[in-house]
Order: sequence, then C-alpha cells, then structure tokens
Amino acid sequence: MYNLFINTGKELGHINPEIQGHFSEHLGRCIYEGIFVGEDSDIPNTKGMRNDVVEALKEMKIPVLRWPGGCFADEYHWKDGIGPKESRKKMINTNWGGVTEDNSFGTHEFMELAEQLGCKTYVNGNVGSGTVREMSEWVEYMTFDGVSPMADLRRANGREKPWTVDYFAVGNETWGCGGNMVPEYYANLYKQYQTFVKNYDQNKKIKKLAVGPTDKDYNWTETLLRECFRQQGTFPQNFGYMDGLTLHYYTLPYDWDHKGSATGFNDKEWYMTLAKTFAMEEFIEKHSAIMDRYDPDCRIGLMVDEWGTWYDVEEGTNPGFLYQQNTIRDALIAAINLNIFNKHCKRVKMANIAQLVNVLQAVILTEGDNMIKTPTYYVFKMYSCHQDGELLESSINSTEIGLEDQYKVPNLHESVSKGKDGKIHITIGNLSCTDSYDVCSTLMGDNIKSVKASVVGGKMDDHNTFEEPDVVSEKDFDSISFEADKISFTVPASSVMHIEVEI
Ligand code: AHR
Repeated sequence: MYNLFINTGKELGHINPEIQGHFSEHLGRCIYEGIFVGEDSDIPNTKGMRNDVVEALKEMKIPVLRWPGGCFADEYHWKDGIGPKESRKKMINTNWGGVTEDNSFGTHEFMELAEQLGCKTYVNGNVGSGTVREMSEWVEYMTFDGVSPMADLRRANGREKPWTVDYFAVGNETWGCGGNMVPEYYANLYKQYQTFVKNYDQNKKIKKLAVGPTDKDYNWTETLLRECFRQQGTFPQNFGYMDGLTLHYYTLPYDWDHKGSATGFNDKEWYMTLAKTFAMEEFIEKHSAIMDRYDPDCRIGLMVDEWGTWYDVEEGTNPGFLYQQNTIRDALIAAINLNIFNKHCKRVKMANIAQLVNVLQAVILTEGDNMIKTPTYYVFKMYSCHQDGELLESSINSTEIGLEDQYKVPNLHESVSKGKDGKIHITIGNLSCTDSYDVCSTLMGDNIKSVKASVVGGKMDDHNTFEEPDVVSEKDFDSISFEADKISFTVPASSVMHIEVEI
C-alpha cells in the first residue's frame, strides 16, 4: 500500500495555465494541413482554420500558443506574411525539409487562430537574420492603436484594432539554429533588441522573453542573468529587461543519431525513456537556483517553451517533417513533466510542448480530413483541472523500479492542487508497465463529501490510429472508495489518473 499525503492547508504557489501551453511552428504538417487548410478547402473550416482541430483544442483548454518557431522564427520575415495572399513572397524553409513556404499563414492568420481558440499569444521574434527595426515594426504592427506607419498598414490589411501579444521572445536557440552565439554576445543583443519591443498599451504589457539554455548549459543562464537582470528602481529605468528566460529539453530514448522508435519499443526502452524525462526536474532545479540568486522573488519565469519526446520519424515520411506516433509512454511522459512543472510553479510560469499538430509529441494527428487525438491529448485535457489552481503540499512514498540501474524511476508520480472550482485535484501516474499499485490518500482531517476519478491507460505501446482512433482515451474510473479523510484506489499499470475530491 502506498500513502499519498496531501496537506490541503498548505498552498505552495499558483499554477499558471500557461504551464500547459503549446507550440506551433512552420514545420512539416503542423501549420499547413494540421491547422490551416485555407478557406477554399473541402475540410470544414472557419477562415481557413480546421473546425475539428480548433474544437478539440478548445475542449482541451489550450491556454497559450507559441508561433512561428522554433528555428523557423530566425529566418521568418513577418512582412512577407501580410497583405493579399497572391502577392505574398515565397521562401525556402531551410530548417525543415527545404520545402516552399508560401506565407499564406502569417500574423493575421495566427491572431485569428488564437481568437478562435480563446488562448493567449506567444510570438517569437527574429534575431538570427532579422533587424532591430524589423522586430520593432512587427510589435508596432500588432499592438499599436494610434496613427503610425505600421498601425496604418495593419488597418489597410483589414484589421482595425490591435491584437494582444501576451509573450514575445527575442530570438530562439541563439546558441544554435538562431545564430550560434556565445551567451555574452546574445546578452548584449537581447538588451538592444528588447529595448525596441515597446509597450504601446500600458494595461497590456508584453512579457519579454530572453533565449535561455538547453539542457544543462548553466553558464548560459548565469551569463544572461548577470548581464540582463535589473532590479526594480535601478537606472536606466527600462525595468525590466526580461520577464522570462526560456529552457529547452527534449526526451530521446537514445541519442540524436539514433533516437529510437515511437512505437514497437520494449520494457527496457520504456524505463529508459521515462528515466530520461526526469532530467527535466534536475535542469529546472539547477537553473532555478541560479535565477534565485539574482531574482529571489521569482519575478522572472523559467519558460520551458520546448519539451517533449523526439523519436525517429515514422517510416516513409519526410525526415524534415518530424512526424511521429504517440503512445501510452508519451502519456506518462506528459504526466511526469506536467507534475514537475506544477511542483515548480513558483519559477516555471510557462511551458510549451513541441508541437501542437503532426510534429513531435503532438496532441493531434491529421490525415486529409481525418483527425485523431493522441494519448498526450487526453493527459493535457485531464490536467486542465490544475489551470489557475493553487499547488498543495503533497508526497507519496514511491519505490524505485526499472530494469537497469541507470534507468530507475519512481513507480508513482503525482501532483495535487486546489482548483479554482474549490475542489482538490490529484493527478498521478503509474510508471510501471507491468504492476498496479494500491494507494491510500489522506487529506489530513478534511471530511470528504465526494470523489470522482478518470484514467488514461492501457498497454505501454497502445496508440490511436486513423483506422482505430479510440484505442486510448480518458475513461471514467469507478473503483475508488472514501471514508472520512481517506481515499483508496488501485492505479492500473502504465496509466495516468485524475481524482477530483470535494471536501
Ligand atoms: O521543435 C523542433 C525544433 O527543435 C525547433 O524548431 C527548435 O527550436 C528546436 O531545436
């Protein structure tokens, strides 16, 4: 019997909905086909956006969407993506398969998508091959309400009112595809570029994000904080230089030369992949420790704006399109990471899984006019109960499991919040691919009124296909009982559960 201890009296931090954010890049079939099919398509759409995909994402409660990249962002010139579609410039998508990008999805289309989804906007600017002026004019185009060259151009293109840009990143992976810079050089560029990311509406300030490290590049974080962090009230009064620092970490079963297959893996590869995803916790803790020295009040967020699994592409697909299947293993990886983000919600204020549709650990896959929801989709939908909740103190006396010493993982992994609905929400993953576990949860002296549970689970390799779209989904879970302040249940092998408790 495992004991899940919950202290409903101890709130440890606010869970920003953006922790469950997403990322959409001009990469493979993410934007084109996956989201945007154009108004003339036979696929039912509203202003070119697929109705089935928009509907599913709204149901999942998508809180924020990042666009246009990724590596693509640093070769994207926004003016090529506005105005009449027939005269938009075409370009080569050099990072992703060398395909032609016709720029038919641009700023207006992204903002339309965000409006249909009802989510916040995260726009990624171009530092690698763009100018300060280009970035500054983009911000003016999107957010200025008065008379100005860029605001007038926006109006001429059919949009009277400015949009809201919630987050704006100054470059992407500037240590790699965004320019191969050293941190000292980028820190200077960051300070320069961000100066011209103006806040035209003081009531809707844009949160500015600096490119942060990948994995364990602690020197990058130290340099960025040392060079770019400013205390409130210091001169020059351009407080502050940043609202967030990004972090990228992908989970690969093996390595970059041979990543491993999305399906058809064995027990050893199951534990290996889960163990590797736990590095996320170490990276967050160590980068946070550096940030704490400069910013003990957690004013700056650590924004994990790229994370998720990265496997070898599906056979027969374009290697530059990063199309992969998604199994129960991905469901567990999503649950582990979302639990980790919850537990570090004081510092982690946004996270964006890569990527939304048809790319890497996607929540949705499409084929023509068909759409399927992946196991990862159901975990995100399940975890939406935590959005805007308060993290509660919780712990479980888990044991280590796994087949090899270097790839051990805890058998159970959880996080608990008090939702804005006043209910207690427990999310718990069983990382064993063979064993179920009995759990007793104590809510310290609270009198439980009702309990409701659901589960996403199956065999470790189970996944949805276009032929069999409902192999994995979220199902009601009735085998749960409660008495006074205790709840008892058995978590099935390789599954993720949500338990909603009314006290
Ligand atoms: O998500 C795919 C790519 O991974 C992104 O474009 C880039 O930022 C990262 O290297």
